[in-house]
Amino acid sequence: MSIEQLEAIAQAMVAPGKGIIAIDESTNTIKKRFEAVNVPNTEENRRAYREMLLTAPNLGQHISGAILYDETLRQSTKAGVPFTKVMMDNGILPGIKVDKGPQPLAGFPGEVVTEGLDGLRERLHEYAKLGAKFAKWRAVITIGEDSPSGTCIEANCHALARYAALCQEAGIVPMVEPEVLMDGDHDIEVCYDVTEATLRSLFGSLYEHNVMLEGTILKASMVISGKGCATQADMDEVAEATVRCLKASVPSAIPGIVFLSGGQSDEQATAHLNAMNQIGPHPWPLSFSYGRAMQSAALQLWAKDMAKNFAEAQKTVSMRAKENGLAALGQWQKAA
Ligand code: 13P
Repeated sequence: MSIEQLEAIAQAMVAPGKGIIAIDESTNTIKKRFEAVNVPNTEENRRAYREMLLTAPNLGQHISGAILYDETLRQSTKAGVPFTKVMMDNGILPGIKVDKGPQPLAGFPGEVVTEGLDGLRERLHEYAKLGAKFAKWRAVITIGEDSPSGTCIEANCHALARYAALCQEAGIVPMVEPEVLMDGDHDIEVCYDVTEATLRSLFGSLYEHNVMLEGTILKASMVISGKGCATQADMDEVAEATVRCLKASVPSAIPGIVFLSGGQSDEQATAHLNAMNQIGPHPWPLSFSYGRAMQSAALQLWAKDMAKNFAEAQKTVSMRAKENGLAALGQWQKAA
């Protein structure tokens, strides 16, 4: 696939007023989400839940792509239509999470490095055949007393760059996600410094690995106060600090930046994205790739009564897509 084709996919992912829904929870992670709402973690429940999300009416109006998990990429609707077909028919690009999750980084207690490079070339070729147009790899950076270490940042960014180069070789757009966790009592300045150091390291590694930025999407965490910080930065501070940090570290050749929600409430995630876009224009479109902030309300409803609440849960997903789509344009308004 040519760079122009990768570029076209990347640009479609961040088309004006559109963003991504992340439904790529591993079997272990969805187990935790299901347990919280008393749903047994069976393959059929996972399939039925993802069908509810992916077939929400008019989802494609505000959703350009969905990140799936390996199992989900191979599943179909109850009527037997492959999810990837349902998605493409509705203008939603199939994406696939390809990392194997974070593992303890030897020699650095409390820090992690994402694994999954072994056999990745073969897996990517299979995913491309199954219809995946983009992929995701998430690195996790934890802020603590003496962390993150430079080694942790470097090891994670090196892996992200190797992953991204393999994706482009396979004709798949890499979404690179270095998530700086909100866990901790650090203030927003510390989050700024760690995020900036991480992004600079990431773009250094991408450059060294000959990754074409024009065919790459950045999935970023916002610059925000730690969950346990006594003074929480307000919406405008988060928007201003995030945009300042991105401008200081992300090349303008990147076609777009999408944010993760990372444990923010639905409304916060939307309000922060909206506030950032209101202080634009910026060098890149700023949009969303939310997991929890897209799904949580719908999951609650669906879990209470899968059959009776099916349509209502779908309406909630479509509404969250619409609100975040408006926020991607800086046109969202908080309900009175
Ligand atoms: P959250 O929006 O729930 O943080 O999930 C997004 C994601 O894909 C994390 O990798």
